[in-house]
Amino acid sequence: MAVTSAILLVGGMGTRMQPLTLSTPKPMLELLGRPITEHQIMKAKEAGIEEIVLATSYMSEVFTPHFGDGSQLGIRISYAVEEVALGTGGAIRNAADSLRSDGGVIIFNGDILSAHSLKEQIALHESKSADVSLHLTRVEDARPFGVVDIDGDFRISSFMEKMENPPTNLINAGCYIFNRSAIEKIPHGEVVSVERQTFPELLSEGARVFGYIDTSYWIDIGNPNALLAATKELLNGEPYDLGERATISPTARITNGSYIGADSTIGADAVLDNCIVGRGASVGAGAKLTTCHIAPGAKVPEGFIAGGNFFGFTELSGENPYI
Ligand code: GDD
Ligand code: MG
Repeated sequence: MAVTSAILLVGGMGTRMQPLTLSTPKPMLELLGRPITEHQIMKAKEAGIEEIVLATSYMSEVFTPHFGDGSQLGIRISYAVEEVALGTGGAIRNAADSLRSDGGVIIFNGDILSAHSLKEQIALHESKSADVSLHLTRVEDARPFGVVDIDGDFRISSFMEKMENPPTNLINAGCYIFNRSAIEKIPHGEVVSVERQTFPELLSEGARVFGYIDTSYWIDIGNPNALLAATKELLNGEPYDLGERATISPTARITNGSYIGADSTIGADAVLDNCIVGRGASVGAGAKLTTCHIAPGAKVPEGFIAGGNFFGFTELSGENPYI
């Protein structure tokens, strides 16, 4: 049966993304003016996915007004809200109840930007008659990730989540295909980690778990610097991109993969190097900013010089119910 359904795991707290996530859940942080989640939805749609369930928990109310029923993006979107976060495995089990199709399901971590081919991953899953398949990539330092052992036929023999001395640098890249029978093995309504419980259990039962190894661009948007790096990657060598109605002084200089949000203003002689400027923000004349995040609506004073800073995010704290 064709794989036409997907679940997006978007319920985490995004603690390592603070202060950006004080008022926005991590998957709703924007890359080139569109939430990370929207980039993933469009990738799924291009691979033939027809329905997506967003598995939400932390700040669930932010997703629905943006994505609605998905008709604007041309894909069916529904929501599975966890009152208490169920962990990655519990979230998958819970969200699967909302799917219409009975076929295999693509599951995405909600903080990944990846250029791998979902169609090829589906083809591998099918050709191996897999119960579960995982997108795998190689990294230099595997310690913050799940690592796998794999044999010459791409069958995974072990899965270990975040360890001090990883035996390989081949990691779980956070995009899975699960057959429905494998999802149904996850207990319902319980807190379950897919990485720490489900994968090791499936392997110990002899389930057919395969890896789709890919070397194209992949990034875990796990900290603010990764958001800047991903912006640069998406711009593909262009110095910057602009949202609608952004106004830039002709003497400003914007370089190195920056994004200037809608309705924002960049003053005369300002220099921005790999920065993200939120909607409706302003950067004063002569400011010089390198790898900075400017919150929506924030105002960077004239002549301000900074590197690696955040502007305006903590000022929200007084009215932010999530702190
Ligand atoms: N709905 C829901 N409920 N979603 C959750 C929950 C939950 O209780 N907990 C986490 N998530 C979502 C997060 O929002 C994120 O999109 C995804 O699940 C993974 O959680 P992270 O907190 O980002 O995990 P990680 O980055 O430490 O590690 C994961 O990703 C790595 C690749 O980036 C693991 O899957 C690793 O094995 C993997 O290598
Ligand atoms: Mg993550």
